[in-house]
Amino acid sequence: MKNNPLPRLDTSPELKEKLLSYCRLRKGEVWIDPVRGHRVGCLDATIPEHLSLIMAQELAQLAIHDPPYNLAALEIRDLEDYIKWSRIWVSNTWSMLDENSALYIWLGADQNNGFQPLPDFILMMREQPFTPRSMITMRNQRGYGTQSNWMAVRQELLYYTKGKPLFNVDAEYTDIPKILRGYYKTVNGQLTDNLERSRASTIRAGNVWVDVQQVFYRMEENISGCYAQKPLKSIDRIIRASSNPGDLVIDYFAHSGTTLLASEILQRKCYTIDLDPIYAEITIRRLEHLRATGKTGWQNGHPFEDIGTELQQSNTEHQSENLLF
Ligand SMILES: C[S@@+](CC[C@H](N)C(=O)[O-])C[C@H]1O[C@@H](n2cnc3c(N)ncnc32)[C@H](O)[C@@H]1O
Repeated sequence: MKNNPLPRLDTSPELKEKLLSYCRLRKGEVWIDPVRGHRVGCLDATIPEHLSLIMAQELAQLAIHDPPYNLAALEIRDLEDYIKWSRIWVSNTWSMLDENSALYIWLGADQNNGFQPLPDFILMMREQPFTPRSMITMRNQRGYGTQSNWMAVRQELLYYTKGKPLFNVDAEYTDIPKILRGYYKTVNGQLTDNLERSRASTIRAGNVWVDVQQVFYRMEENISGCYAQKPLKSIDRIIRASSNPGDLVIDYFAHSGTTLLASEILQRKCYTIDLDPIYAEITIRRLEHLRATGKTGWQNGHPFEDIGTELQQSNTEHQSENLLF
Protein backbone atom coordinates (compact mmCIF):
# COMPACT_ATOMS: atom_id res chain seq x y z
CA MET A 1 0.00 0.00 0.00
CA LYS A 2 1.18 3.50 -0.82
CA ASN A 3 2.29 5.45 2.23
CA ASN A 4 3.31 8.94 1.28
CA PRO A 5 1.46 11.64 3.22
CA LEU A 6 2.59 15.25 3.60
CA PRO A 7 3.31 16.67 7.05
CA ARG A 8 1.14 19.55 8.32
CA LEU A 9 2.04 22.42 6.02
CA ASP A 10 1.51 25.10 8.66
CA THR A 11 4.44 23.69 10.64
CA SER A 12 6.68 22.85 7.65
CA PRO A 13 7.93 26.18 6.25
CA GLU A 14 10.74 24.62 4.16
CA LEU A 15 8.42 22.23 2.41
CA LYS A 16 5.92 25.04 1.82
CA GLU A 17 8.65 27.10 0.24
CA LYS A 18 9.46 24.21 -2.15
CA LEU A 19 5.82 23.72 -3.07
CA LEU A 20 5.31 27.39 -3.91
CA SER A 21 6.91 26.99 -7.32
CA TYR A 22 4.23 24.40 -8.19
CA CYS A 23 1.35 26.75 -7.37
CA ARG A 24 -0.33 28.28 -10.40
CA LEU A 25 -1.75 31.32 -8.54
CA ARG A 26 0.13 34.25 -7.05
CA LYS A 27 -1.52 36.72 -4.64
CA GLY A 28 -4.25 38.67 -6.43
CA GLU A 29 -4.86 36.02 -9.12
CA VAL A 30 -7.93 33.94 -9.98
CA TRP A 31 -8.22 30.53 -11.68
CA ILE A 32 -11.39 29.93 -13.70
CA ASP A 33 -12.51 26.35 -14.10
CA PRO A 34 -12.87 25.60 -17.81
CA VAL A 35 -15.41 22.82 -17.18
CA ARG A 36 -18.08 24.20 -14.81
CA GLY A 37 -17.04 27.83 -14.27
CA HIS A 38 -15.98 27.51 -10.61
CA ARG A 39 -13.46 30.15 -9.54
CA VAL A 40 -10.55 29.83 -7.11
CA GLY A 41 -8.61 32.90 -6.01
CA CYS A 42 -5.44 33.54 -4.08
CA LEU A 43 -7.10 36.49 -2.38
CA ASP A 44 -7.85 38.13 0.96
CA ALA A 45 -11.38 38.00 2.40
CA THR A 46 -10.94 41.39 4.06
CA ILE A 47 -10.13 43.29 0.84
CA PRO A 48 -13.29 44.36 -1.05
CA GLU A 49 -11.41 44.66 -4.38
CA HIS A 50 -10.30 41.03 -4.05
CA LEU A 51 -13.88 39.95 -3.51
CA SER A 52 -15.07 41.92 -6.51
CA LEU A 53 -12.44 40.07 -8.54
CA ILE A 54 -13.63 36.62 -7.51
CA MET A 55 -17.34 37.45 -7.68
CA ALA A 56 -17.27 38.94 -11.18
CA GLN A 57 -20.46 40.95 -10.40
CA GLU A 58 -22.46 37.87 -9.42
CA LEU A 59 -24.23 37.42 -6.10
CA ALA A 60 -24.22 34.16 -4.14
CA GLN A 61 -27.16 32.31 -2.65
CA LEU A 62 -25.05 30.64 0.03
CA ALA A 63 -21.84 31.48 1.92
CA ILE A 64 -20.00 28.86 3.97
CA HIS A 65 -17.06 30.39 5.82
CA ASP A 66 -14.57 28.57 7.99
CA PRO A 67 -12.14 31.23 9.23
CA PRO A 68 -9.10 30.36 11.33
CA TYR A 69 -10.44 30.40 14.90
CA ASN A 70 -8.37 28.07 17.01
CA LEU A 71 -5.55 28.78 19.41
CA ALA A 72 -3.20 29.61 16.54
CA ALA A 73 -5.59 32.26 15.20
CA LEU A 74 -5.81 33.89 18.62
CA GLU A 75 -2.03 33.76 18.93
CA ILE A 76 -1.70 35.76 15.72
CA ARG A 77 -4.35 38.33 16.73
CA ASP A 78 -5.66 39.10 20.18
CA LEU A 79 -9.39 38.68 20.65
CA GLU A 80 -10.26 42.31 20.00
CA ASP A 81 -8.30 42.30 16.76
CA TYR A 82 -9.80 38.98 15.75
CA ILE A 83 -13.30 40.41 16.12
CA LYS A 84 -12.36 43.57 14.19
CA TRP A 85 -10.90 41.38 11.44
CA SER A 86 -14.04 39.21 11.40
CA ARG A 87 -16.33 42.26 11.20
CA ILE A 88 -14.62 43.20 7.91
CA TRP A 89 -15.07 39.87 6.11
CA VAL A 90 -18.60 39.44 7.47
CA SER A 91 -19.71 42.80 6.11
CA ASN A 92 -17.88 42.13 2.83
CA THR A 93 -19.88 38.90 2.61
CA TRP A 94 -23.19 40.74 3.08
CA SER A 95 -22.57 42.78 -0.06
CA MET A 96 -21.72 39.66 -2.09
CA LEU A 97 -24.91 37.79 -1.13
CA ASP A 98 -28.20 37.66 -2.98
CA GLU A 99 -31.23 39.38 -1.39
CA ASN A 100 -32.41 35.92 -0.26
CA SER A 101 -29.40 33.93 0.92
CA ALA A 102 -27.82 32.02 3.78
CA LEU A 103 -24.57 32.42 5.67
CA TYR A 104 -22.93 29.63 7.69
CA ILE A 105 -19.86 30.29 9.82
CA TRP A 106 -17.78 27.61 11.53
CA LEU A 107 -16.36 28.76 14.83
CA GLY A 108 -14.73 27.42 17.97
CA ALA A 109 -15.41 28.01 21.66
CA ASP A 110 -12.24 27.38 23.63
CA GLN A 111 -13.19 26.22 27.11
CA ASN A 112 -9.68 27.04 28.30
CA ASN A 113 -10.14 30.65 27.22
CA GLY A 114 -13.57 32.00 28.19
CA PHE A 115 -15.20 30.00 25.35
CA GLN A 116 -13.75 32.50 22.89
CA PRO A 117 -13.98 33.52 20.14
CA LEU A 118 -17.63 32.36 20.01
CA PRO A 119 -19.25 34.79 22.51
CA ASP A 120 -17.58 37.94 21.21
CA PHE A 121 -18.17 36.86 17.63
CA ILE A 122 -21.90 36.41 18.31
CA LEU A 123 -22.04 39.88 19.89
CA MET A 124 -20.32 41.34 16.83
CA MET A 125 -22.88 39.58 14.60
CA ARG A 126 -25.67 41.40 16.46
CA GLU A 127 -24.48 44.65 14.83
CA GLN A 128 -24.75 43.06 11.39
CA PRO A 129 -27.90 43.07 9.25
CA PHE A 130 -28.04 39.24 9.11
CA THR A 131 -30.88 37.42 10.90
CA PRO A 132 -29.62 34.81 13.38
CA ARG A 133 -31.34 31.46 12.75
CA SER A 134 -29.55 28.60 14.45
CA MET A 135 -26.43 27.52 16.26
CA ILE A 136 -25.47 24.01 15.23
CA THR A 137 -23.05 21.88 17.18
CA MET A 138 -21.14 19.17 15.38
CA ARG A 139 -19.47 16.52 17.49
CA ASN A 140 -15.81 15.84 16.79
CA GLN A 141 -14.31 12.47 17.63
CA ARG A 142 -11.03 13.85 18.97
CA GLY A 143 -11.00 16.46 21.69
CA TYR A 144 -8.96 18.10 24.42
CA GLY A 145 -9.17 18.57 28.18
CA THR A 146 -9.88 14.92 28.96
CA GLN A 147 -8.19 14.65 32.36
CA SER A 148 -9.69 17.41 34.45
CA ASN A 149 -12.70 18.64 32.50
CA TRP A 150 -15.42 17.46 30.11
CA MET A 151 -13.67 16.58 26.88
CA ALA A 152 -14.11 19.44 24.41
CA VAL A 153 -15.47 17.87 21.24
CA ARG A 154 -17.75 20.61 19.98
CA GLN A 155 -17.51 22.40 16.70
CA GLU A 156 -19.89 25.32 16.40
CA LEU A 157 -21.65 26.30 13.20
CA LEU A 158 -23.64 29.54 13.12
CA TYR A 159 -26.49 29.91 10.64
CA TYR A 160 -27.70 33.37 9.58
CA THR A 161 -29.92 34.54 6.76
CA LYS A 162 -30.40 37.58 4.54
CA GLY A 163 -33.98 38.06 3.30
CA LYS A 164 -35.97 34.84 3.00
CA PRO A 165 -33.81 32.09 1.50
CA LEU A 166 -34.99 28.54 0.89
CA PHE A 167 -34.52 25.80 3.45
CA ASN A 168 -34.80 22.23 2.10
CA VAL A 169 -35.94 20.32 5.12
CA ASP A 170 -35.37 16.91 3.48
CA ALA A 171 -31.63 17.55 3.58
CA GLU A 172 -32.00 17.72 7.32
CA TYR A 173 -32.48 13.95 7.75
CA THR A 174 -29.52 11.84 8.85
CA ASP A 175 -28.99 8.16 8.06
CA ILE A 176 -29.45 7.24 11.72
CA PRO A 177 -32.52 4.99 12.09
CA LYS A 178 -35.25 6.03 14.51
CA ILE A 179 -35.25 3.44 17.26
CA LEU A 180 -36.73 5.09 20.33
CA ARG A 181 -40.44 4.77 20.85
CA GLY A 182 -42.37 7.12 23.05
CA TYR A 183 -43.85 10.58 22.80
CA TYR A 184 -47.41 9.25 22.78
CA LYS A 185 -50.29 11.27 21.36
CA THR A 186 -53.89 10.44 20.57
CA VAL A 187 -54.70 10.78 16.86
CA ASN A 188 -58.29 10.09 15.67
CA GLY A 189 -59.05 8.43 18.98
CA GLN A 190 -56.01 6.08 18.73
CA LEU A 191 -53.01 6.27 21.01
CA THR A 192 -49.96 6.47 18.72
CA ASP A 193 -46.22 6.76 19.34
CA ASN A 194 -43.70 8.84 17.44
CA LEU A 195 -42.56 5.95 15.18
CA GLU A 196 -46.10 5.41 13.90
CA ARG A 197 -46.68 9.09 13.36
CA SER A 198 -43.48 10.10 11.62
CA ARG A 199 -43.01 10.10 7.87
CA ALA A 200 -39.24 9.40 7.91
CA SER A 201 -37.50 6.29 9.16
CA THR A 202 -34.35 8.19 10.15
CA ILE A 203 -33.81 10.98 12.66
CA ARG A 204 -33.49 14.64 11.77
CA ALA A 205 -30.10 16.23 12.12
CA GLY A 206 -31.58 19.14 14.05
CA ASN A 207 -28.96 21.48 15.40
CA VAL A 208 -26.79 18.79 17.00
CA TRP A 209 -24.86 16.71 14.48
CA VAL A 210 -23.46 13.49 15.90
CA ASP A 211 -23.30 11.53 12.67
CA VAL A 212 -20.39 13.25 10.92
CA GLN A 213 -16.98 11.58 11.11
CA GLN A 214 -14.12 14.01 11.69
CA VAL A 215 -11.57 13.72 8.87
CA PHE A 216 -8.55 11.57 9.67
CA TYR A 217 -5.79 9.97 7.65
CA ARG A 218 -7.57 6.70 6.91
CA MET A 219 -10.43 8.41 5.07
CA GLU A 220 -10.43 8.77 1.30
CA GLU A 221 -11.26 12.46 1.59
CA ASN A 222 -8.22 13.17 3.77
CA ILE A 223 -5.89 15.84 2.36
CA SER A 224 -2.54 15.38 4.04
CA GLY A 225 -0.74 18.65 4.65
CA CYS A 226 -4.01 20.38 5.55
CA TYR A 227 -4.69 20.87 9.23
CA ALA A 228 -8.26 22.19 9.40
CA GLN A 229 -10.25 20.17 6.91
CA LYS A 230 -14.02 19.99 7.40
CA PRO A 231 -15.81 16.71 6.59
CA LEU A 232 -17.48 16.65 3.18
CA LYS A 233 -20.62 15.25 4.79
CA SER A 234 -21.09 18.43 6.85
CA ILE A 235 -20.67 20.75 3.86
CA ASP A 236 -22.90 18.52 1.77
CA ARG A 237 -25.64 18.86 4.40
CA ILE A 238 -25.36 22.67 4.44
CA ILE A 239 -25.41 22.95 0.65
CA ARG A 240 -28.42 20.65 0.23
CA ALA A 241 -30.36 22.43 2.99
CA SER A 242 -29.65 25.98 1.81
CA SER A 243 -29.26 25.99 -1.96
CA ASN A 244 -30.55 24.54 -5.22
CA PRO A 245 -28.60 23.00 -8.10
CA GLY A 246 -27.12 25.79 -10.22
CA ASP A 247 -26.87 28.23 -7.27
CA LEU A 248 -23.65 30.05 -6.48
CA VAL A 249 -21.89 29.04 -3.25
CA ILE A 250 -19.01 31.10 -1.83
CA ASP A 251 -16.31 30.19 0.68
CA TYR A 252 -13.65 32.77 1.53
CA PHE A 253 -11.41 30.38 3.51
CA ALA A 254 -10.88 27.49 1.10
CA HIS A 255 -7.91 25.59 2.65
CA SER A 256 -8.42 22.01 1.37
CA GLY A 257 -11.28 23.04 -0.94
CA THR A 258 -14.07 21.09 0.75
CA THR A 259 -16.79 23.58 -0.25
CA LEU A 260 -15.63 23.55 -3.87
CA LEU A 261 -15.66 19.76 -3.93
CA ALA A 262 -19.12 19.44 -2.38
CA SER A 263 -20.42 22.11 -4.78
CA GLU A 264 -19.05 20.21 -7.76
CA ILE A 265 -20.63 16.95 -6.56
CA LEU A 266 -23.99 18.64 -5.89
CA GLN A 267 -23.95 20.64 -9.13
CA ARG A 268 -23.65 24.07 -7.61
CA LYS A 269 -21.11 26.63 -8.77
CA CYS A 270 -18.48 27.66 -6.24
CA TYR A 271 -16.30 30.77 -5.95
CA THR A 272 -13.69 30.25 -3.26
CA ILE A 273 -10.50 31.97 -2.11
CA ASP A 274 -7.55 31.45 0.19
CA LEU A 275 -4.89 33.93 1.16
CA ASP A 276 -2.22 31.27 0.84
CA PRO A 277 -1.19 30.16 -2.70
CA ILE A 278 -0.53 26.61 -1.45
CA TYR A 279 -4.10 26.11 -0.24
CA ALA A 280 -5.51 27.77 -3.36
CA GLU A 281 -3.47 25.26 -5.39
CA ILE A 282 -4.57 22.30 -3.26
CA THR A 283 -8.19 23.41 -3.76
CA ILE A 284 -7.78 23.40 -7.56
CA ARG A 285 -5.90 20.09 -7.54
CA ARG A 286 -8.58 18.47 -5.39
CA LEU A 287 -11.24 19.34 -7.95
CA GLU A 288 -9.08 18.07 -10.82
CA HIS A 289 -8.30 14.88 -8.87
CA LEU A 290 -12.03 14.26 -8.29
CA ARG A 291 -12.72 14.61 -11.99
CA ALA A 292 -9.78 12.40 -13.00
CA THR A 293 -10.25 9.60 -10.45
CA GLY A 294 -13.66 10.02 -8.78
CA LYS A 295 -11.82 10.25 -5.46
CA THR A 296 -12.44 12.97 -2.88
CA GLY A 297 -8.88 13.08 -1.55
CA TRP A 298 -5.50 11.37 -1.53
CA GLN A 299 -5.64 8.66 1.10
CA ASN A 300 -2.01 7.77 1.94
CA GLY A 301 -0.82 10.21 -0.70
CA HIS A 302 -0.97 13.96 -1.25
CA PRO A 303 -1.95 16.66 -3.75
CA PHE A 304 1.59 17.23 -5.06
CA GLU A 305 2.58 13.60 -5.62
CA ASP A 306 3.00 14.12 -9.36
CA ILE A 307 6.01 16.33 -8.61
CA GLY A 308 8.10 13.26 -7.95
CA THR A 309 11.19 12.23 -6.11
CA GLU A 310 12.54 15.61 -5.05
CA LEU A 311 9.56 16.14 -2.81
CA GLN A 312 9.35 12.53 -1.73
CA GLN A 313 12.85 12.68 -0.27
CA SER A 314 12.26 15.83 1.72
CA ASN A 315 8.99 14.39 2.90
CA THR A 316 10.23 11.04 4.27
CA GLU A 317 11.57 12.53 7.49
CA HIS A 318 8.11 13.88 8.43
CA GLN A 319 6.14 10.73 7.73
CA SER A 320 6.24 9.03 11.10
CA GLU A 321 5.03 12.18 12.83
CA ASN A 322 2.09 12.47 10.46
CA LEU A 323 1.04 8.85 10.83
CA LEU A 324 0.50 9.32 14.55
CA PHE A 325 -2.14 11.98 13.82
C1 LIG B 1 -9.89 26.77 8.98
S1 LIG B 1 -9.21 26.81 7.39
C2 LIG B 1 -10.59 26.42 6.37
C3 LIG B 1 -10.83 24.92 6.24
C4 LIG B 1 -11.77 24.50 5.13
N1 LIG B 1 -13.15 24.68 5.50
C5 LIG B 1 -11.58 23.04 4.74
O1 LIG B 1 -12.49 22.22 4.88
O2 LIG B 1 -10.47 22.71 4.31
C6 LIG B 1 -8.92 28.55 7.19
C7 LIG B 1 -8.19 28.95 5.90
O3 LIG B 1 -8.34 30.38 5.78
C8 LIG B 1 -7.20 30.92 5.14
N2 LIG B 1 -7.18 32.38 5.45
C9 LIG B 1 -6.77 33.00 6.58
N3 LIG B 1 -6.95 34.33 6.50
C10 LIG B 1 -7.53 34.57 5.28
C11 LIG B 1 -7.98 35.74 4.61
N4 LIG B 1 -7.88 36.96 5.17
N5 LIG B 1 -8.53 35.60 3.38
C12 LIG B 1 -8.64 34.38 2.79
N6 LIG B 1 -8.22 33.24 3.38
C13 LIG B 1 -7.67 33.32 4.60
C14 LIG B 1 -6.05 30.11 5.71
O4 LIG B 1 -4.94 30.12 4.83
C15 LIG B 1 -6.68 28.70 5.85
O5 LIG B 1 -6.35 27.90 4.74
